[in-house]
Amino acid sequence: MSIQPIRFFGDPVLTTPALQVVDFDKELRTLVADLTETMLEAPGAGLAAPQIGVGLRVFVWDVDDALGHLINPTLDLSSEMQEGEEGCLSFPALSYETPRAFRAVAKGFNMYGEPITVEGTELLARCLQHETDHLDGIVFIDRLSKEDRKLAMKEIRESEWFNAAQSSGETPSIKVSPHDIFGRGL
Ligand code: NI
Repeated sequence: MSIQPIRFFGDPVLTTPALQVVDFDKELRTLVADLTETMLEAPGAGLAAPQIGVGLRVFVWDVDDALGHLINPTLDLSSEMQEGEEGCLSFPALSYETPRAFRAVAKGFNMYGEPITVEGTELLARCLQHETDHLDGIVFIDRLSKEDRKLAMKEIRESEWFNAAQSSGETPSIKVSPHDIFGRGL
């Protein structure tokens, strides 16, 4: 297991749809372990494989003192919505009111290839939606109102992390996020 650098917005891996996992092998279990360790160290409430540069449909979470992981997820969402601030480990220090469904039922597989269903409301539901979006190459600022998205883009363009990455031409990354949702990014 090892802690991996977290990719920042601007890295193309974050806007590229991830591939379905086909082999439920040792390598996949190492990926789940790396994601979990990296999320706990950040610390974050969730982390998706593209955020550490791996284009596979895998994510992990740490919500309400429970760790989880899900592979090849599909989501069923309530029509009832929730309000709340959201952040992301790939957007250091950014947080915006982001509309999400109140309840989510996620179906997928665990790292051994066994089918599992995860049902959550509030923060867990938000997390399942945020992480599944990552697997589709969608980032949370895509979910904001037009006005907030403009503000977010302005904040990003003015941020140190974004400018440092742009000027060095390097892939932006960090090991510790300054913060985000309830003190923890997704
Ligand atoms: Ni995120």
